[in-house]
Amino acid sequence: MKLTLRVWRQQNPETPGAMATYEVDNISADMSFLEMLDTLNEELTLAGDEPVAFDHDCREGICGACSLVINGDAHGPERTTTCQLHMRSFADGDTIDIEPWRASAFPVIKDLVVDRSSFDRIIQSGGYISAPTGTAPDAHATPVPKPDADFAFEHAECIGCGACVAACPNGSAMLFTSAKVNHLNVLPQGAPERETRSWTWWPRWTRRALAAAP
Ligand code: FES
Repeated sequence: MKLTLRVWRQQNPETPGAMATYEVDNISADMSFLEMLDTLNEELTLAGDEPVAFDHDCREGICGACSLVINGDAHGPERTTTCQLHMRSFADGDTIDIEPWRASAFPVIKDLVVDRSSFDRIIQSGGYISAPTGTAPDAHATPVPKPDADFAFEHAECIGCGACVAACPNGSAMLFTSAKVNHLNVLPQGAPERETRSWTWWPRWTRRALAAAP
């Protein structure tokens, strides 16, 4: 496959960015989108140019780091993460626009990498307390009732990729925040300060309603 890539390049948070155009050839339909970007970066490096900075970690659809807007859609044309998007979703000769998450809560650090530490602050509000608690206790030292653990686990399926923010016209993190509130509020770790920081009553109510459902 031969493709034209229009990629957002931005040196740092202070410098204005712009789209840059690159051609890539010999792209296999079996490559992942990130492997296609690796190919571009190899060519840029061999030519003495700076490679495109983009975020990734697991490349298995688990960590949520691979945050790209592809042709205007968060994570591109498939319902999956960017690292699990394959080039068979595109056709020979296509032009592909590649941009970072666009939201004021996620300022651009460089090229396609954004700062998602605002998500860390949301998690800290619900999952931790400010008092020193010593070293981490053994996992089995804090019993969690099975229904609470199941409820929390269900909402922990949100991997915090930030696509809900990038796709929302208001740049809202409503899906992420509600997932974390449900996930963390039923667990004991953040309980001592829960009511002053992220208190909500309805997870317990929801669990009771689910338990009572036929
Ligand atoms: S790199 Fe981890 S989900 Fe894509």
